[in-house]
Amino acid sequence: MKKLTLLGGLTPASFLKEYWHKKPLLIRQAIPGFTAPLSRDELFALAQRDDVESRLITHFAGKWKLTAGPLPELPPTTRRNWTTLVQGVNLHDDRADALLGQFRFLPDARLDDLMISYATDGGGVGPHFDSYDVFLLQAHGQRRWSIGRQRDLTLVKGLPLKVLQNFEPEEEYVLEPGDMLYLPPHYAHDGIAVGECMTYSIGFRAPAWQELAESFLQFMSDTVELPGRYADPDLQPAKRPAELPAQMVEQVSRELQRIRFDRDDISLFLGEYLSSPKPQVFFESPARPLSPAKFADAARRRGVRLSPRSRMLYAGSRVFINGESFDTGPEDRAVLRLLADQRMLSGEQAGQASPDVSEALCTWYEDGWLLLA
Ligand code: SIN
Ligand code: CO
Repeated sequence: MKKLTLLGGLTPASFLKEYWHKKPLLIRQAIPGFTAPLSRDELFALAQRDDVESRLITHFAGKWKLTAGPLPELPPTTRRNWTTLVQGVNLHDDRADALLGQFRFLPDARLDDLMISYATDGGGVGPHFDSYDVFLLQAHGQRRWSIGRQRDLTLVKGLPLKVLQNFEPEEEYVLEPGDMLYLPPHYAHDGIAVGECMTYSIGFRAPAWQELAESFLQFMSDTVELPGRYADPDLQPAKRPAELPAQMVEQVSRELQRIRFDRDDISLFLGEYLSSPKPQVFFESPARPLSPAKFADAARRRGVRLSPRSRMLYAGSRVFINGESFDTGPEDRAVLRLLADQRMLSGEQAGQASPDVSEALCTWYEDGWLLLA
């Protein structure tokens, strides 16, 4: 595999083996000459929207304060010690989405989103740890990162945000635009703006077992099939009428233990779960959608691309898009896998799609999941 400047000259394979989920890596000029694709004002405009998740964190007079977005008003940029953080910028901005393309040596199933923070001098979110793998790409100005392995994970009590009580930094780096710091989950860090700065966090979610289990049980509740009904033809007269009959517990337990699931159920669940958009994500249908015939024609000429908001995955014969799953035959599978991997189809590729796939593409276009290129 190719060595990547993005990974400081490492191949994805050696980065994954040595650092991923294990230890931090500082990469100077991971993106040489990088300039922030979004301006400060564009970021502030996103923070004002109610379909965008944002936060304002101030540390005025030594007191932490958190305000959840939308944020119609921010403190003046001349005031020190505040930061605003905008989640999921890749969902709303093609330039931000394109940046994520550089990280696709990691599976899409692990990607969470691109968060962008803006901070005035001294601004930050305090020393903390995340349960995510994160690449912290410096986009504008300078930020001083202090990081440490941190055994003592005690948090300061009574704060609106998670701040470590006894942060013990072991290393310190000042990042310039284009520099990037990779941190594995639970590695403590504190990033303080040196003058005005913007930082891009490319986050990779590691779902908690509990979260997966709860969602899986919900998935199972939609698919479970247990025919029949409780029966007690041998019922004896009740001596203590309020007592739950032992025989009833026994029979229900035997029946419920017939609920089984296998790897295939898990694969279906995971595909649907991980491709589901977050609750605040909405798709925009085209204002005046083309008729299916006109769409097919335009797709053949121009090609199609997935909306930055669409999550598309596949496994075995199944294709998942935005929480829905489709079972596919070998030919349809090939073109849909191509769409998922490339996040686009050329006109030629779209033109080769079967009538079934063309129909699906048109539906996705009407739903705003897919765009004409
Ligand atoms: C930030 O950009 O200020 C916060 C990123 C982080 O520490 O996770
Ligand atoms: Co963090």
